[in-house]
Amino acid sequence: MNKLKPIYSFIVILILMVIIGSISFANVSARDNPQEISPVSRGAQIYDDWTSVVSDAAIPVGNHPIWSRQSNNTISGIDTWRCVVCHGWDYQGIDGAFRSGSYSTGFPGLLEASTKDQSTLVQALDGSSDAQHNFTSMLSDDEIESVTAFIQTGLIDDNEYIDIVTRKVTGGNFANGKEKYEQVCSSCHGDDGTLATFRYEGTEVSLGTLAVQDPWRFLHRTRFGTARAPEMPLGYELGWTAEDGRDVVYYVQSSLPTGFEVPTNEPMEIEPVDNLGGPAQNWFSGIVTAFGAMATSLGFAILLGALFVGIILVLVWLLRSRRA
Ligand code: HEC
Ligand code: HEC
Repeated sequence: MNKLKPIYSFIVILILMVIIGSISFANVSARDNPQEISPVSRGAQIYDDWTSVVSDAAIPVGNHPIWSRQSNNTISGIDTWRCVVCHGWDYQGIDGAFRSGSYSTGFPGLLEASTKDQSTLVQALDGSSDAQHNFTSMLSDDEIESVTAFIQTGLIDDNEYIDIVTRKVTGGNFANGKEKYEQVCSSCHGDDGTLATFRYEGTEVSLGTLAVQDPWRFLHRTRFGTARAPEMPLGYELGWTAEDGRDVVYYVQSSLPTGFEVPTNEPMEIEPVDNLGGPAQNWFSGIVTAFGAMATSLGFAILLGALFVGIILVLVWLLRSRRA
């Protein structure tokens, strides 16, 4: 019996390693989707950029087949597959902000489609209406359902809130916008909106600049977020009305620094809301985090290999000591 003791403790250690390893695996995947969001917001983010928010998305090569029906907009590749690039941040396509300029494609908007029923919208997306407009190999049924939910209930008519020529918010409530910005946004974006910078037309710009240059994109992302900020609170999930979103754009547009200056700050560090898999807070999560890092690297493969070799050795040893 005494002979077996070291073997038992070896086995116990192996089991502990496996358990800790799988806890950290669970943490790694929990971080992929830190916020539970409604299908409408999910659909809105798919609309913005499904190539970034759909996990394991089959990213098509080359341009979207419909892209060649126009020649004005010269972008190419993966972006041509994004709904927003063809249909617009204001959901109005040819009738809205994309009616002219380099982003213009001549493709239709979706405001009218928002009154159509679910099955008609699905037919628009599965190739039944137009064989080239088929997203079924890229989006799951659930994801297509989220997009149709967004089209049916998430779209707003931006012309009610933003002047299409001056790009200025019309009829905003400054006090409401300021209050909401200070409560929800300034912790990450800074009181003056320059804590983080955003890529816009090849330049790094501040939040204020973005609100002036592209208030439609600003409003959409304030309501529904963006793939690059999974931890950013979403207006829609906070129960904000479209007017609340407009007021925040209004406040940022009218009182934060703007212009195409290049802020000197580095892109901000992203702090996850939950500490799942985040920086170590105590020795246990330290160990968990360490194993999490190993799990995502070659280290874990080697660990697994060693584990199996270990188990085989133990079995051989046990069998031999029994016989002896
Ligand atoms: C390459 C450009 C392009 C992309 C990308 C694109 N669409 Fe379209 N979409 C069109 C065009 C053009 C039409 C008009 C009908 C047709 O020719 O297919 C259309 C039609 C539609 C319609 C039907 C509109 C109506 O009034 O019945 C819906 C709904 C729609 N698109 C949603 C989407 C969604 C959601 C995505 C992203 C998953 C998307 N589209 C991506 C170009 C595009
Ligand atoms: C938890 C931190 C956090 C909070 C709070 C937050 N944001 Fe963000 N936001 C981010 C990050 C991170 C990005 C992505 C930065 C990047 O693109 O690198 C972002 C991006 C954005 C963008 C998109 C910019 C673009 O490229 O189009 C807008 C607009 C925006 N935020 C507005 C807001 C507003 C308005 C609020 C308050 C309602 C807010 N944010 C609150 C972290 C936050």
